[in-house]
Amino acid sequence: MRVGVLTGGGDCPGLNAVLRAIARKGERVFGDELVGFVDAWDGVMERRTTPLTIETMRGSLPRGGTVLGTRRGSPFDHPDGVDRVKTAMAELGLEALIVIGGNGSLSVACKLYNEHGIPVVGVPKTIDNDIEGTDVTFGFNTAVQIATDAIDRLHTTAESHDRVMVVEVMGRHSGWIATTAGIAGGATAVLIPEHPFDIDEVCERIIRRHNRGRFASIIVVAEGATPKEGTFDVGEREIDRFGHVRLGGIGNLLASEIGLRTGFETRPVLLGHVQRGGTPTAYDRVLSTRFGVAAIDAVHRGAFGTMVALHGAEIGETPLVDVIGRTRPVDPALYTDVAEIFFA
Ligand code: F6P
Repeated sequence: MRVGVLTGGGDCPGLNAVLRAIARKGERVFGDELVGFVDAWDGVMERRTTPLTIETMRGSLPRGGTVLGTRRGSPFDHPDGVDRVKTAMAELGLEALIVIGGNGSLSVACKLYNEHGIPVVGVPKTIDNDIEGTDVTFGFNTAVQIATDAIDRLHTTAESHDRVMVVEVMGRHSGWIATTAGIAGGATAVLIPEHPFDIDEVCERIIRRHNRGRFASIIVVAEGATPKEGTFDVGEREIDRFGHVRLGGIGNLLASEIGLRTGFETRPVLLGHVQRGGTPTAYDRVLSTRFGVAAIDAVHRGAFGTMVALHGAEIGETPLVDVIGRTRPVDPALYTDVAEIFFA
């Protein structure tokens, strides 16, 4: 079979491992010809391709990023976008398209399948771990490890200076990275989009610690966290052209507000894209490889309109219609029952 493959949305450690697995199983077991699209949907519409083979993917398992390149954006942004996708598929002789992406790319894939009959299989990807229909996404484990390493380092400088450190981590819609890295790094508090925070409570918690002789505190805040209404005015948040809140907003604001309210020296630390770069952890390499193998298997079973997924310990499939249009919030038991009782 000739099968197209693209990586869309923000990059994520493990993308190359998925591509490598698709190429290995596709070429070796099924005798497939895999066609990689460069720069996501732009590459499909403009027919910019590169061969995806065992040879071209050699050595890519530990490499971060994606050798195919990635973009945000969709064929539905262009009046003739869907026609250009269909023409590209026909002219390149493709019988299926594997879309490795987050909520945005998977929604596009779902629409192309449901409304235009394009045979797609999705592979969930995001460091944020907030895609419905899978227990875990690859890249998340790596991002949590990077954030945890940073928090470990911040403890020693915070303790030396008796400072409060506010660490902003990624997570526009969900607090998976913040909660998990906060637990692993022994944070004082974790603030996430799912639970609007009370700035008075955060400051009281820090002051109580100081009164107990704990002069250093680490506050982990997800970029999408917001205060409870009426408690602290964060003003206008800068929104980029894709409707995303710009990184660096809440971490800076919170650090200056905590400093003002408590009188303690406070510093913001914005981890930003460091969380997305570099080599994937062993866990993510294995999950990515399993997803890649499952995706090419799904193509050969004709399981179109689905997304490969981790269900417990097993790899399975979830219909794309059950995935799109929502984000998976942090497990309440993890945040409320585990994280909150240790943070203090
Ligand atoms: O991939 C998701 C994500 O990591 C979000 O947590 C973050 O808001 C966003 O990507 C940043 O995207 P960009 O690289 O386009 O600024």
